[in-house]
Amino acid sequence: MKFLVTAGPTREHLDPVRFLSNPSSGKMGFAVAAAAIRAGHEAVLVAGPVSLRTPRGARRIDVVSACGMLDALKREIASADVLVMSAAVADWRPAECSASKLKKSEMDGVLRLVRNPDILQSLHPLKGSRFFAGFAAETGDPEAEALRKMRDKGLDMIIANDVSSPGCGFAVSTNRVSVYCADGSRTDLPLMRKSAVAARIVKMICALARGREAGCRSR
Ligand code: CTP
Repeated sequence: MKFLVTAGPTREHLDPVRFLSNPSSGKMGFAVAAAAIRAGHEAVLVAGPVSLRTPRGARRIDVVSACGMLDALKREIASADVLVMSAAVADWRPAECSASKLKKSEMDGVLRLVRNPDILQSLHPLKGSRFFAGFAAETGDPEAEALRKMRDKGLDMIIANDVSSPGCGFAVSTNRVSVYCADGSRTDLPLMRKSAVAARIVKMICALARGREAGCRSR
């Protein structure tokens, strides 16, 4: 199967030297792409600005903003079997982006923002029989929000975690997640390395997608 995986933050520039973003390291998405390759699949990694090495065998497309990420995914989705949206997409961007550096004397302390597109919702019309998985990073018990997001975004799976709990979150190498599927199942994984979490996620996606159509070549 062909996995299309997003990773990292997006950056929403207000001028060439200033942007809105978040502390996502990209580790989880890179681990999912690497796990897909290890399991014998193809992986295309659409990455926001991160400083991680591309997993061997993955094709990487670097993007900056949420709109850039959506454009890249629209180009790639037709040939993909699975979309895993682990990117921490910025929900808002500055209403205007100046081509040259803004001087502080030109700024009045008010930043006008506009909503970014919801990438998963924008891609939903192109979903067809593809398997769509998302992440829900919450502070506190993520279950209610994860189930809402799975429903609202039309997902087959959502991987939820409490980013405020020890060993979880953006920049660390471990994670503790609960995996919710559209069939109503819930799987709680223990705290483990993101690479191990990724391997379990790929295995679960494969089993569910295999149930839907033949062709999963997991080793
Ligand atoms: N996502 C997306 N497009 C966005 C924002 C998020 O596709 N503009 C995806 C993320 O990659 C993730 C899922 O939606 O797979 C949930 O993201 P999250 O940030 O938890 O939720 P939001 O929909 O942004 O809601 P909120 O910020 O209100 O929690």
